[in-house]
Amino acid sequence: MRALILGGIADANLLAAEIARAGLDAVYSYGGRTRAPADQPLPTRIGGFGGASGLVDYIRTEGITHVIDATHPFAAEMSRNAIAACAKAGTPLIALERAPWARAPGDIWIEADDVNAAVAALLQTPARVFLAIGRQHIAPFATRPQHAYTLRFVDPPEAPLPFEADVIVSRGPFTLDGELEMMRMRGIGWVVARNSGGNGARAKIDAARMLGLPVIMISRPKLPERHRAESVAEVMQWLDHRTCLGA
Ligand SMILES: NC(=O)c1ccc[n+]([C@@H]2O[C@H](COP(=O)([O-])OP(=O)(O)OC[C@H]3O[C@@H](n4cnc5c(N)ncnc54)[C@H](OP(=O)(O)O)[C@@H]3O)[C@@H](O)[C@H]2O)c1
Repeated sequence: MRALILGGIADANLLAAEIARAGLDAVYSYGGRTRAPADQPLPTRIGGFGGASGLVDYIRTEGITHVIDATHPFAAEMSRNAIAACAKAGTPLIALERAPWARAPGDIWIEADDVNAAVAALLQTPARVFLAIGRQHIAPFATRPQHAYTLRFVDPPEAPLPFEADVIVSRGPFTLDGELEMMRMRGIGWVVARNSGGNGARAKIDAARMLGLPVIMISRPKLPERHRAESVAEVMQWLDHRTCLGA
């Protein structure tokens, strides 16, 4: 067997560590968005495949027998390509997809289907808004210039931003205390977040609840049906089972 991990998030790193520990043959793939991606205990490749057809070619050329989509829940293009490519190549696919966050008592969430709906959900009254959504999605907020935005990125922005903003450059991890301090210091009144799920990005949501701040929560993009696992252990079981079956 030879597995391909489509990675880029903390859960994918945990999976890579487990696969390396089990001595399985696998390649870890990064999309190439961050400048210094974390080292992996597996052979690593970086950059797009060239759409679904490029991924089919890669699967065939590299002798990939299993694909694990452990990308971010909002990396929908990659996930759709993986579904299409694995169907075409006849290669088993599983998605390591953590459960979305559920509303807890005290949360003030305004649910939005996408970024444009999130922009529309902001009140007209000027406010300090923490946009925790990734730089490629911020442009639509330029249509609401009355707000003062705080952005947080892993790398410093290379190109000018579509609007003036207070930019924090940090890779995390972000603690509850750290998020509370950041929001208090900057006088944040609104948080805009995507429902990523998991613990790594959760602190800002807990901090918003503790401070009584409304969160505009963007729902995950809809994807075609696919085999899913919520934990690394489930993926390992799937790999074991499929390998025993000779798949
Ligand atoms: N979206 C987020 O908020 C977020 C947050 C944390 C980490 N990440 C990670 O950053 C990467 C890019 O995210 P995105 O939202 O830009 O994804 P996307 O919009 O779904 O993907 C755009 C294109 O980037 C390439 N790509 C994405 N992930 C790849 C991977 N793991 N290996 C090889 N190529 C990949 C593919 O190019 P081709 O079509 O040329 O194959 C894909 O079509 C993903 O690996 C994701 O896990 C994303």
